[in-house]
Amino acid sequence: MRRAIFPGSFDPLTNGHLDIIMRSSPLFDEIIIAVLNNPDKNPMFSVEERRDMISKLLPSTANGNCRLMVESFSGLTADFARERRATAIVRGIRAVSDYEYELRMALMNRRLEPNIETVFLMAAEEYSYVSSDLMKQVFRLGGRVEGLIPELVEEKMREKLS
Ligand SMILES: Nc1ncnc2c1ncn2[C@@H]1O[C@H](COP(=O)(O)OP(=O)(O)O)[C@@H](O)[C@H]1O
Ligand SMILES: [Mg+2]
Repeated sequence: MRRAIFPGSFDPLTNGHLDIIMRSSPLFDEIIIAVLNNPDKNPMFSVEERRDMISKLLPSTANGNCRLMVESFSGLTADFARERRATAIVRGIRAVSDYEYELRMALMNRRLEPNIETVFLMAAEEYSYVSSDLMKQVFRLGGRVEGLIPELVEEKMREKLS
């Protein structure tokens, strides 16, 4: 039984995140999308709202027989992974700029939990510049973000800002 977690803020979920979920699905039997509860980040969506959006979008994301679940957590990613008996942490890499931060996190997590491996997947070219922050910025200023985030997420952002 190969279980992974895919941790992140997902504030909000983008097509880049969905692409990583789809790509990692064939590699695992189960993936827990783990929404980090980090109030310092002053998120646009509450953890519950983020979880709710993700769970509505997961059925259409399934790729093969992988079971996809969404949960939230706070504290150390390594602790959460161990508690859920995951053997891997999935992360996406968009550009060299992601690499340095991700390398530090992966090495620290390895030190904390030597049995859990971080698995990096390269972003799809078409989403390699997509980040939750950029989507929020552009959306707030009235720019078009369709095709880069799921329609449901766009609707929820519109509701938030109206
Ligand atoms: N467009 C994208 N393509 C591929 N991976 C992405 C994309 N956007 C974010 N990711 C990856 O998804 C993971 C979660 O990202 P994010 O929601 O920003 O949470 P965090 O706060 O942990 O960075 C990270 O590994 C990030 O690199
Ligand atoms: Mg990020």
